[in-house]
Amino acid sequence: MVWSPEKTEVKSWNEWDTLRHVIVGRADDCHIPPEEPALDAKVPEDSDMRGQWGRRPQETIDRANELLDNFADQLRKRGVRVDRPVSIDHSQPVTTPDFHTDSQFGCMPPRDVLLTVGHEMLEATMSYRCRWFEYLNYRPLLKQYWEEDPKFRHEAAPKPRLTDEDYHPDYLSDKIGVEKRLKWAEEKFFVTTEEEPLFDAADVLRFGKDLVVQHGFTTNLKGIEWLRRHFPDHRVHTVNFPGDPYPIHIDATFTPLRPGLILNNPQRRLPEEQREMFHKNGWEIVDSAQPAHNTPPPLCYSSTWLSMNVLVLDPKTVCVEKSEVYQAEQMDKLGMEVVEVELRDAYAFGGGLHCCTADVYRDGDCEDYFP
Ligand code: ARG
Repeated sequence: MVWSPEKTEVKSWNEWDTLRHVIVGRADDCHIPPEEPALDAKVPEDSDMRGQWGRRPQETIDRANELLDNFADQLRKRGVRVDRPVSIDHSQPVTTPDFHTDSQFGCMPPRDVLLTVGHEMLEATMSYRCRWFEYLNYRPLLKQYWEEDPKFRHEAAPKPRLTDEDYHPDYLSDKIGVEKRLKWAEEKFFVTTEEEPLFDAADVLRFGKDLVVQHGFTTNLKGIEWLRRHFPDHRVHTVNFPGDPYPIHIDATFTPLRPGLILNNPQRRLPEEQREMFHKNGWEIVDSAQPAHNTPPPLCYSSTWLSMNVLVLDPKTVCVEKSEVYQAEQMDKLGMEVVEVELRDAYAFGGGLHCCTADVYRDGDCEDYFP
């Protein structure tokens, strides 16, 4: 069936087939949330964000919105339909019977919250208290898709309780040190416990019939088991990247570009025993190029490896952040046409080009790439 912009249809089975319809996040009203166990574990110990919270400075919000709007226009000019979320008031505190937090996070990045698998969009459980209600930013869009597309399955994973039982107290110190963090990551001792299923959508990569899920800070083993039971027609694979002291969200670590080709962060290599399914099926896993920057921009959660957080538009075309010259050069060598997109000043809002989007429709069907 041919996609038409007049007709809403939700469908996306992988990270690379031709993109037709996408959600691009907004920086409106984004907050640096107050301290909470899972978030503290993630903020690097030498970060400029430690110990402060509140609404982000207006000039940074305006600048990030300018870049996100430009990115949306760039995609539209290429024929992609782009929808935008409607920001809720993130200054509102959240109190449930189990926890309280004084503010929320933002409506960036959508990739963390929404997992599109085929005709379904699944709202992730999330694992930070400040992101518990983040799905509300996307509800106007999901409501519209549900009304317009009779095949669309709008699903939400069970909301987690996020009591203190969900977090290992060992991670609460701000003086753990990178060495110990690396050791803990190697031992698969992460900040989240196995109290209940937890996952963020951005820990999942879609390869047709196979879903590859990172076990780390934001997704626990029960979360992966929940996904396995929820998608009984898929094979769900658990992966780890031991070189990452802050393992959250897979998309600055492992980046599929097209069938048969994946970029892997050279500091966070996929362990040999987890490579088998790729090698057996002739997939190549290549080290990604180095980032162009030595440090992330101010007030940023992510590392410089957002360089590899690219958005694939089709198996021959990829959006790369404009300043990431080494990444662009590597893409060129790999035979990809590069579309330059300026986004660095929006990185602080939660991520790069893959993070700040969520798939609504890509061409193609559910293929078995690893028979
Ligand atoms: N953990 C990654 C890094 O700092 C950032 C991933 C951001 N991805 C996302 N979907 N928000 O290298």
